[in-house]
Amino acid sequence: MTALAALIREEVARSGPVAFSRFMELSLYHPQFGYYRRVRDPFGKAGDYYTAEQLQPVFGILIAARIRSLLGEMGEAGEMTVVELGAGRGEMAEAFAGMPYIPIDLDGGALPDRFRGCVFSNEFFDALPVDVAVRRSGEFREMRVGWSGERFVWVEAGRVDEEAEDYLLRYAAPRQEGEILEVNREALRWMERVARHLERGLVFTVDYGYTAREAARFPRGTLMSYRRHQASEAVLEDPGERDITAHVPFTALEEHGKRCGLEPLRFETLARTLLDAGHADEFAAALGAGDSAAQTRRRMQLKTLLFGMGETFRTLIQRK
Ligand SMILES: C[S@@+](CC[C@H](N)C(=O)[O-])C[C@H]1O[C@@H](n2cnc3c(N)ncnc32)[C@H](O)[C@@H]1O
Repeated sequence: MTALAALIREEVARSGPVAFSRFMELSLYHPQFGYYRRVRDPFGKAGDYYTAEQLQPVFGILIAARIRSLLGEMGEAGEMTVVELGAGRGEMAEAFAGMPYIPIDLDGGALPDRFRGCVFSNEFFDALPVDVAVRRSGEFREMRVGWSGERFVWVEAGRVDEEAEDYLLRYAAPRQEGEILEVNREALRWMERVARHLERGLVFTVDYGYTAREAARFPRGTLMSYRRHQASEAVLEDPGERDITAHVPFTALEEHGKRCGLEPLRFETLARTLLDAGHADEFAAALGAGDSAAQTRRRMQLKTLLFGMGETFRTLIQRK
């Protein structure tokens, strides 16, 4: 049993089954044993997964170009700050080098009080702790995490609270008996924060996820766990040793953002975003000079971005 599993088991013994958001929070972000706090790097070949953001410099050059061009279309001039949520290893630092750049992750960085520019993120919202619900007899009931037979198990609890109910009715209904859904309250809190601090500019979110209309495609929910490049649904196993993600509810980001003053501008595949960035000769810049090995590597990055990740990942761009 992992050290973290022992801690969570004690908490369950003390206070009963825990909300899944609590289990996910501890699994990923416990100060000592959380997946993202450990010394071992979760990213890359020796880690558990790759992100588009690691395909540098091609991803960085194209995204930075697209952000500059959209800010230009908004008539924004002068100094623009880029804030990155969940910046991870800081892969985008070079791409945003011409602008004040504030990476935010667990170990530091914060939204400036008031600023103009862009809030960028890649695979940030899918890493936020979510609650889980099941549709039962016309109601949404909470799925909590208990301990039984020497393992963590799902426990069906009472009706979800009012905020979760409202969320599910807005962004995930109608649903069939027995279907599983997630509630990403943290995503809403981040939209509120961003809208409060951003004076003018863009919120540029890259991630994988679904719209309210697409929610029915996931009757078993969207929780996934990643370990050594293997995806599985075993999210309750070995807490702290594996990544856990939930697909991003794009309609929730869009509609809640609207209520906070963020106007939806574009919602598209990542491939579309990158192709639009490429218009202004950015492909040539992204493919760059250098020896033929470097050029081949960059061409492979572009291919993966456009034809692999580009079709599954999406970009939501909101404007204030
Ligand atoms: C899936 S990783 C993505 C990292 C990077 N953006 C990339 O694409 O390679 C998610 C990142 O979000 C960070 N994160 C999660 N919750 C956070 C929070 N509340 N505040 C700041 N960073 C957070 C994690 O530490 C992690 O580095």
